[in-house]
Amino acid sequence: FSELDFRKDLLAWYDREQRQLPWRGPANPYATLVSELMLQQTQVKTVIPYFERFLERFPTPKELAEAEEQEVLKLWQGLGYYRRARYLQAAAQRIQEHHNGDFPGDKEAIDALPGVGAYTAAAVASIGFNLPHAVVDGNVIRVLSRLFALEDDVAATAVKRDIQARAQKLLDTERPGDYNQALMELGATRCSPRNPSCLTCPVSNYCSVRRKGLDPHVFPYKSK
Ligand code: ADE
Repeated sequence: FSELDFRKDLLAWYDREQRQLPWRGPANPYATLVSELMLQQTQVKTVIPYFERFLERFPTPKELAEAEEQEVLKLWQGLGYYRRARYLQAAAQRIQEHHNGDFPGDKEAIDALPGVGAYTAAAVASIGFNLPHAVVDGNVIRVLSRLFALEDDVAATAVKRDIQARAQKLLDTERPGDYNQALMELGATRCSPRNPSCLTCPVSNYCSVRRKGLDPHVFPYKSK
């Protein structure tokens, strides 16, 4: 298994076939934060128009920080989980107050933003600032558990830690943002839970589940 070749093949596929999404322009950590918070629990297709309206009304943290909460919640209406909208505004206010309106570019300051957990911090750091932090979401867990044919229950803390470590080791440190998005995109469009398309998967050559002739549906393995 060559990590170098895996990264190269995954990124070449992403460069060729990535979906054109409104948050995939030039690096903009604020836009990344908005999109990643919207994408938690909500599908890409639903998020697109919300993201566009939100960035039109609040193009930078400043406009969001100064807005009435009611207006922010109104633009969120239909996405659900309003706590995310409140956190997002609180994050914008912290950026105004602690960072002079400039989105902070180091991992610790990103971690300290309200509503930003391990996944979101890694997404913003890598996609917004090209910092070498691997993201681990449900897509990544599924892809890696198949890639390495991990037979342990992914609910276990030690297994989650192992997956995080494997993700970090595999990360392309030259293009961490693109690489992270490529892995998530692979999970969404090829290595899906119920309908994995191994025949069109750009990295099926590297996949342990495939090499061993196992059933991908069994992964990620859950004992209950
Ligand atoms: N799911 C959540 N964030 C994503 C991203 N940036 N690219 C692809 N899928 C995602």
